[in-house]
Amino acid sequence: MFQVATVPEHGLNSNLLILFLSESFVKKRKKDFSAFPSSIVTYLENFFLNFKDFKGEFKETHLVYPEGNSGVQRILFVGLGDESSLKCQDFRELGFKLQSVQEKLKTRRNHIYLGNLQACHNTLIENLSEGIFFKQYSFDQYKSEKKDKENKGRYIYVCSKKDYSPRFRQAFLRTRKIMNSVYLTRNLANQPSNYATPEDISNFVKKHFAQYPQCTVEILDQKKLTKLGMNALLGVAKGSANPPFLAIVHYKPEVSNNRKIVLVGKGVTFDSGGISIKPSANMEEMKYDMSGAAAVIGSLDFIVNTGAKTEVIGVMPLVENMPSGTAIKPGDVVKSYSGKTIEVINTDAEGRLILADALAYANERFKPGLIIDFATLTGAIMVALGDKRAGLFSNSENLKNVLFKAGEESGDWLWPMPLDDIYKKDLESTIADIKNIGSRWGGAVTAAKFLQNFVGKTHWAHIDMAGTANDVKHIDYWGKGATGFGPRLIAAALKGLQRLV
Ligand code: BES
Ligand code: MG
Ligand code: ZN
Repeated sequence: MFQVATVPEHGLNSNLLILFLSESFVKKRKKDFSAFPSSIVTYLENFFLNFKDFKGEFKETHLVYPEGNSGVQRILFVGLGDESSLKCQDFRELGFKLQSVQEKLKTRRNHIYLGNLQACHNTLIENLSEGIFFKQYSFDQYKSEKKDKENKGRYIYVCSKKDYSPRFRQAFLRTRKIMNSVYLTRNLANQPSNYATPEDISNFVKKHFAQYPQCTVEILDQKKLTKLGMNALLGVAKGSANPPFLAIVHYKPEVSNNRKIVLVGKGVTFDSGGISIKPSANMEEMKYDMSGAAAVIGSLDFIVNTGAKTEVIGVMPLVENMPSGTAIKPGDVVKSYSGKTIEVINTDAEGRLILADALAYANERFKPGLIIDFATLTGAIMVALGDKRAGLFSNSENLKNVLFKAGEESGDWLWPMPLDDIYKKDLESTIADIKNIGSRWGGAVTAAKFLQNFVGKTHWAHIDMAGTANDVKHIDYWGKGATGFGPRLIAAALKGLQRLV
């Protein structure tokens, strides 16, 4: 729970008061305390006089129990380092840190004092709250002992009278919506594949979006997919005992401008590689291979909860990629929905096969102004970019710019990748229109080039999130398991995207 307030006349009544201090403030000999609540100034003076170890370094913390009767039980000093160089990201990290302390102390009324900061604004409140929400997340569905749900702590942002704005409330309410959608994405992506089969996810989508009258859900089953000729998608599913589905969520705002955005998400509930089977080390990570679909579900959840003015359609091909006597084999040729024939050289390059049909179908049926697909598509994108940024490919400069900027703001970072036509050569097949893998090099680019065959001239962006979907190292607030990549990006991009269609 969050609130915003100014310091009340009678002083703060707090179980935990959080004070941010920059390195330069801590260093100053003559400190000006006028920006702090008057009830604690004497205490602060004494603290700085007697305690010299606190330097104010970024994320340094020191907890004290002030004496006297100030109404403040604890003060947590939090270092900011060089305040003028702080970025959104740093405030997320700080939010995460605060919540870690709060969880240990289980304090109820937690005041985050912002009155002494250079600036108190929406972005700061949003990013601190995001960090707090990230820390509050846990995935303990399959644990006998659950994380403490009894933590009744709430946060009150305290601004100075001059900085206070009622808009701050809107800021954290928006963040709460975004983070709810991120939780949804994480909860889905973290599911083990035996609890999240294509059918389970279809059922979830049906149930979840049925709550919203602006949404209609269609689930196309194997029979329907066969009738439509989605043989690339069906080919991938052939080896599995779990049948495939194509889930479609159509969000229509009350007053529609008839402009449409399509979001497509790769939903491979488990990717064993199929007959081109993967090595066993880390294969368990392939339960995350539906993170693209989870990103689309979370993004749509945010969109319906905030009411975009544009129609948004989510399309999720859901399959399990398994080896068996009925599985698709290297060398097999499938005729995709678009009519193009594909020679399947490697059954582990399955994501592009299911996306080929989903993209072509969505493009033809909905005629959208733009398409964005999310996919944990290639290991090669991790070789290129590591696990902090997802690859961004697009046939439209404007779309690429909107998404890149939204990535920088939201923390779902992207990096532009090439789509030059010369890479197409790699995908020429001797017996079919195209083959499903290129040469050894530039695997993320040839995968994107493959997809481009199925979107025609429609403005399209492909986000290869194989690196950022789960287990990202050195970013504390993403923790272990699914990161929930996607909804924050779409939330930040939405206005820009609506201008493009
Ligand atoms: N799901 C994988 C990509 C992946 C790899 C995601 C590692 C997350 C972590 C995808 O289906 C795949 O297997 N791609 C192959 C393509 C290759 C056969 C051309 C790969 O990247 O090795
Ligand atoms: Mg694969
Ligand atoms: Zn895959």
